[in-house]
Amino acid sequence: MRAVWYNNAPMKPTSGPPLDQPSAGEAARDLHSIRTFLRQWLRDPVKTASVTPSGRRLARLMIAQLPERCSRVVEIGAGTGVFTRALLDHGIAPSGLLVIEINPDLADFLRRRFPAVTVVCADARHLDALAAEHGLLREGKLDAVVSGLGMLSMNSALRTGILRAAFSVLSDEGRFIQFTYGPSSPVKARERDALGLRVQRAGATLRNLPPASVYVYQRR
Ligand SMILES: C[S@@+](CC[C@H](N)C(=O)[O-])C[C@H]1O[C@@H](n2cnc3c(N)ncnc32)[C@H](O)[C@@H]1O
Repeated sequence: MRAVWYNNAPMKPTSGPPLDQPSAGEAARDLHSIRTFLRQWLRDPVKTASVTPSGRRLARLMIAQLPERCSRVVEIGAGTGVFTRALLDHGIAPSGLLVIEINPDLADFLRRRFPAVTVVCADARHLDALAAEHGLLREGKLDAVVSGLGMLSMNSALRTGILRAAFSVLSDEGRFIQFTYGPSSPVKARERDALGLRVQRAGATLRNLPPASVYVYQRR
């Protein structure tokens, strides 16, 4: 699918290692993640927002949108950690990453899977306070917020509350990276205008269940 650009800044290409060809160990871990995720979806389908975790293609597309110099990242709505894994593989140090997941079972799963990473069981709308509390802002503002949240199933107040918290701790060039299963930006034009944000559609992948697009939000 062709990317649609809403401004001129070029996005990074999505080339990289063949993330969609898992080893036997990775395949076993994937199966465990899928089972865990499905259980949580059965308990709370609205918050979990997807029946299965994101695929490697989508993770690669998300990670390709990180700024070139990127060392401080908050991930929100991490689920079973598909994007967490990709962030670490990309070279983000565990000390430069804070993971926020509201579901306590998934937060425990993430802590077991990524013992070197700080995983907080909390609502993403408090990400500004959490980033400060966990020392992520000690040397400067954030480079990126990587969001795995199901933004379409949120109301406008929660969506804008999360974005407001994110942009209060993102640097001037900082990026809020979000995927969606919908046909357009999950942050509506009036919400972007109210927050002073611009958006780029970075690309899409059909090889995800369901197919997904990635959007990048930045200050105007
Ligand atoms: C669509 S799933 C995506 C999970 C994972 N990022 C992936 O792509 O496979 C959304 C995740 O966001 C979490 N979540 C929902 N609302 C949240 C909130 N307000 N704060 C933090 N996490 C939230 C859910 O528990 C779920 O794990």
